Amino acid sequence: MVQIKDFKGFEGQVIQTQGWVTNKRSGKGLEFIVLRDGSGYAQCIVNANDVSEAIFATAKSTTQETSVKIAGKVVKDDRQEGGFELHVSQLSIIGTSPSFPISNKEHGVEFLVDKRHLWLRSKRQWAIMKIRNRIIFSINNFFQKEDFVQMDAPIFTGNAAEGTSTLFETDFYDRPAYLSQSGQLYGEAMAMAMGKIYTFGPTFRAEKSKTRRHLSEFWMIEPEMAFFDNEMNMDLIEQFIKYVVADVHENCKAEMEVLGRDTSIFDNIAAQEFPRLSYAEAVAVLKGEQKVDGKTTIETLENDLAETIATIESNKAEIIAKEKEIAAGVKKGKRNYLQNKIDGLKNQITDLEVKAKNIPKWLKSAQDFKFGSDFGGSDETVITRMYTVPVMVYNWPHEIKAFYMKRDASAPDLAKGVDVLAPEGYGEIVGGGERETNEALLIEKINEHKLPMDAFDWYLDLRKYGSVPHAGFGLGLERMVAWLCKLQHIRETIPFPRMYGRLKP
Ligand code: 4AD
Ligand code: MG
Repeated sequence: MVQIKDFKGFEGQVIQTQGWVTNKRSGKGLEFIVLRDGSGYAQCIVNANDVSEAIFATAKSTTQETSVKIAGKVVKDDRQEGGFELHVSQLSIIGTSPSFPISNKEHGVEFLVDKRHLWLRSKRQWAIMKIRNRIIFSINNFFQKEDFVQMDAPIFTGNAAEGTSTLFETDFYDRPAYLSQSGQLYGEAMAMAMGKIYTFGPTFRAEKSKTRRHLSEFWMIEPEMAFFDNEMNMDLIEQFIKYVVADVHENCKAEMEVLGRDTSIFDNIAAQEFPRLSYAEAVAVLKGEQKVDGKTTIETLENDLAETIATIESNKAEIIAKEKEIAAGVKKGKRNYLQNKIDGLKNQITDLEVKAKNIPKWLKSAQDFKFGSDFGGSDETVITRMYTVPVMVYNWPHEIKAFYMKRDASAPDLAKGVDVLAPEGYGEIVGGGERETNEALLIEKINEHKLPMDAFDWYLDLRKYGSVPHAGFGLGLERMVAWLCKLQHIRETIPFPRMYGRLKP
């Protein structure tokens, strides 16, 4: 069996391959099958003159997602994706596929999520999953080459790490336990043994709302480094993100093309330093008091709104024109084509209308933002639409950060945390910081956050025995995938999303 991605090594030879019929069209005495095998896509041509009547009939009978075994000659054709096609001599069916529910037509997203187990076979989802896979590979490569030790943190935990409001409680031999929100606290213990570690595991947060950024189960990468302060932490984050972006850029060109992702932004990321803004500066940017590249957020949002409304209008005009064309009478193929275009434009309008409704809300929330509070999703959107590279925000008001965050001795109101906000409106992808080493301050914070002290005795031990300055961060894998693929919603970044209201499939 030859995989489609390897066809180029078999030019002119007859080979065997297998896969699924992803698309098919018929001509006079010809069947054109687009075959998918997971490694790629290839057009397979069945010519009635070259095969037996029975094989031609079998080819004709295949439907979308029928699985087949094919023998044929590999022929170069530059017009084809991958550069090669197959001239079929043998074809047999492995499994039939009557009326596959997902066609090439436009479908509503809720329908597609319900059919996630089948939706994964579509080309866009294939591209996203390949990119996700590369990101994971690249993350591991980075930390391994930097001599970090990978560690697996427990998933059953006895304590909250990131606040009690998003804990999933479960039963652990008749005692309450919680699904881990973060491996960090265990990572800190391990860093005191190994120097530099990283976790890469599932984390769970009961986020009782539907947003485009939140999953209930997501994968997090959490490095933790002994003898690091927050400056060194930020240097590492920048180096890390640049490495992963460059690697994905180089190795996922075809997949990015499937997604229509404009990848020019990835070159910027390699070339530019990431801006580092204190929380106070970020607030000034948000409120339009500090310009970015000569523009304020307010002007930018107002321009965006005008553009969005104009696009909605032009889409509507295009729909009317296409409907007129249909009404005037066209052939069935053309009608389907036009109708599909119309459905696409309508879906686009739905998205744009959401945007047109959101922008005034973002504007208002930016203008009303209260210094000292945490950024909400819309605030992050407003800030990061101004940038083409990730922005690092540091020096946060300590009240809005986790209990373990190190206070700044020279500015006691501030904590040495860092959030990395991805550009193009994506917002937070990384949260991290330097850890509090002062045991008394930690105890004060644990009390302030109303956390059970006895669950943290082991954590406090880390400050008793050879405590050293240390820092780390957590990258949300799915947030990274969403941004690099430029997806509208996080649900497409993971094979089977778990989020509020969604446990199936
Ligand atoms: O900012 P967070 O809450 O930080 C921590 O958990 C720290 N313990 C990390 C550390 O310093 N070791 O979460 C880190 C990242 C966020 O920046 C975001 O990318 C992702 O995890 N994240 C989520 N991703 C998807 N769905 C959710 N509900 C997420 N919550 C956080
Ligand atoms: Mg955070």
